[in-house]
Amino acid sequence: MFNYTKIFKEANKAIKKSKNLYELESIRINLFGKKGFFSKKIKLMRDLPIKDRAKIGFLINKAKENIKKILVNHRIFLENNIINTKLTNEFFDISLSGRYMNLGSLHPITCVIFDIEKFFKERGFLLVNESEIENDYYNFDALNISNDHPARSTHDTFRFDEFKLLRTHTSSVQIKTMCERSPPMKIFSSGKVYRRDYDKNHTPMFHQIEGFVVDLDVNFSHLKKICYDFFSEFFKKKLKIRFRPSYFPFTEPSAEIDILNDNGNWLEILGCGMIHPNILKDAKIDPDIYSGFAFGMGVERLAMLRYKIDDLRVFFDNDLRFLKQFKS
Ligand code: DAH
Repeated sequence: MFNYTKIFKEANKAIKKSKNLYELESIRINLFGKKGFFSKKIKLMRDLPIKDRAKIGFLINKAKENIKKILVNHRIFLENNIINTKLTNEFFDISLSGRYMNLGSLHPITCVIFDIEKFFKERGFLLVNESEIENDYYNFDALNISNDHPARSTHDTFRFDEFKLLRTHTSSVQIKTMCERSPPMKIFSSGKVYRRDYDKNHTPMFHQIEGFVVDLDVNFSHLKKICYDFFSEFFKKKLKIRFRPSYFPFTEPSAEIDILNDNGNWLEILGCGMIHPNILKDAKIDPDIYSGFAFGMGVERLAMLRYKIDDLRVFFDNDLRFLKQFKS
């Protein structure tokens, strides 16, 4: 009923004769498929007398197992053949140069921010970042900016509603951090700010860096020193800068720093001053014991000077021809 030797020999011969994977697969299906040779044999076992079933079943399983091994071995043999033929027939030019990969690069504004962050981190300033959505209190009131201050007009500010707005400067970080921490503090922050402005020196979104120090015996000369050092390092040369008296509601005295550019013009670059005692008081810091200085500057202004660009809007036009020039 089941001649093991004959079946094994025939299957072995057919398998070894097959010249490719398609032929091999059809042999496998003929033998092991649902309607294949072995399925039929197993079905026929039902008609056998019980005493023969175990014997025949054993022989069928033995044949299946051994034939499967031959199938696997022959498959490996054929697959290796395919690879070898490919390797000998196909020409592979190892001298061919690699495919060009178009790598992106950091945006010039990001590079400037990284440079500034590096400078302040190296001098022990702690980087603190806050939300770009602010309320009137932190953006204005807590900074001594009264209700009738021009910066509060709807003209300048993007508002969500009566209370929420997109911060118009990073100075809000000052008061928030002062309320959360206690002196000594040496903090800086960098981030996006928003104003309703659009011309060659203004875009509705731009970046600011804010810094402040609160400690015992902090005075204006500390502020001057850090600013001078910063600008010399940033522009990699000693630039002419001047402190011009100015007014900010949250600093007293206040000043602005101007830089002399190559065309002989003074460019306003940074606002600063000694932190107003009212601000310290609001943050529960005793102004009779502690003092501090603060400064804030626009990143794009610095980038324009560094890269000699006279229209700020090009930074945000996403024109690759412009951006690729900054690739290092
Ligand atoms: N927040 C000011 C602005 O956006 C800049 C500024 C001025 C920041 C004086 C300061 C400061 O910290 O002390 O124009």
